[in-house]
Amino acid sequence: MDKYYLALLGEAGATGLAKAFYMRFKLKELEKAYHQELSHWTYFKKFRSSKLEKPIYYALIVFGLLVSIFGLKVTKAVIRRLEAGAINFYLERFSGDKDVEWIIENEREHMEI
Ligand SMILES: [Fe+2]
Ligand SMILES: [Fe+2]
Repeated sequence: MDKYYLALLGEAGATGLAKAFYMRFKLKELEKAYHQELSHWTYFKKFRSSKLEKPIYYALIVFGLLVSIFGLKVTKAVIRRLEAGAINFYLERFSGDKDVEWIIENEREHMEI
């Protein structure tokens, strides 16, 4: 599938998830991650658009709220798992693309949450 389309939907989902975790735990680093995911989503809107963006965003807010019920430790484990997947995706599909380096850098920061 088209890598820009996948990145667009992935970042819509990441924004929803980060929003849910920030709403639930109110941590500064989660607020920062939410704004960063939103800027990644906005970046990929320059290339593609999809009717699925909003549904995925809201579905991931719901998913994030469900995950948050299990507490901060489980939530952080889920964040690390998903961020590792995002980093692999960018390294595989966008290798050498200078324009997405800042995004990969942000995702690496999110591994430390
Ligand atoms: Fe992201
Ligand atoms: Fe991230």
